[in-house]
Amino acid sequence: MSNTTRRVAIVSAPVPDDLQQAISQHLEIYSVPAGQRIEEAVPEEVRARAIALLCTMRTPVQESLFAALPQLQVVSNFAVGYDNIDVPAATRAGVLVCNTPGVLDAAVADLTIGMALCLGRKLVDNDRFVRSGAWLKGPAPLASDLAGKTFGLLGMGRIGRMVAKRARAFDMNVVYHNRRPDAEAERSGLASYLERDALFSQSDYVSVHIPLGPETTASIGAREFSLMKPTAFFMNTARGAVVDEAALIHALRSGQIAGAGLDVMVKEPLDTASALIDLPNVILQPHVGSATVETRRAMIALAVDNLVNVASGNQPKAMVNESVWPVVAKKAR
Ligand code: DGY
Repeated sequence: MSNTTRRVAIVSAPVPDDLQQAISQHLEIYSVPAGQRIEEAVPEEVRARAIALLCTMRTPVQESLFAALPQLQVVSNFAVGYDNIDVPAATRAGVLVCNTPGVLDAAVADLTIGMALCLGRKLVDNDRFVRSGAWLKGPAPLASDLAGKTFGLLGMGRIGRMVAKRARAFDMNVVYHNRRPDAEAERSGLASYLERDALFSQSDYVSVHIPLGPETTASIGAREFSLMKPTAFFMNTARGAVVDEAALIHALRSGQIAGAGLDVMVKEPLDTASALIDLPNVILQPHVGSATVETRRAMIALAVDNLVNVASGNQPKAMVNESVWPVVAKKAR
């Protein structure tokens, strides 16, 4: 095929050379810096030939994008979350949305447990205690054991289950709330189901593992924090916008809860003017739940595999709007 007719993959994510080669066996690659609006950053001549988009959660994929890319068959997101994508609009446009489930569960679970250890055992506080010279004046305040405490998971999907396993290894009592109770978790003794309010009121650690969507936006707010124990910690490694951040800041400032560990915020990167920055009882992370060499490699490999499968007419492994696949399969043949 000549250059003007060759089908294109718009790539707006960091793809290692060997995986770029896997794409270029099927499609011409047009690279765009991550986070840019594709409608504006890609010339019309290229958009007209694009059948695939590989992007990160920083790329907004809205209705206007589907109009601007009339041949688009697949959006392959380099993330398990897909709140950057208007999935109903993609489905209407006959565009398949793919994501990267499964391969980042352990990394996110490790970070969650790391934050629980930091909060319970005061690791960050104690680091400051040593560096400031406070130790020279006397011993540090006592921390608290994780063993015997109640670890509450809001959301019991793949990541929630992985966190539950780790919390059990610390001899914690693991409880969860999910839309549907998880029969296997109950049967195996991994975790016990609680009603949502009971999860907030009984847990010593509340850890959030729900996706962001219209129903979950700001779904954790003043009411939920008022249910928590004053000694309890709140942790979020899912999406910042599932929390009413002003209510969380109030709960942390007023001592309604003991502290928080946040890997995600409503607006990222977090502005240094945010009230969260000055709160001593918060541990902040720069959205790094999946940010290890091994996990990011597995995620990008899956995202590329999803894209290449669509380009070659095969069903990809991880589809968000699976109902679109027969439509896309017909186009791909
Ligand atoms: C995901 O995969 O959704 C992560 O939050 C991105 O790091």
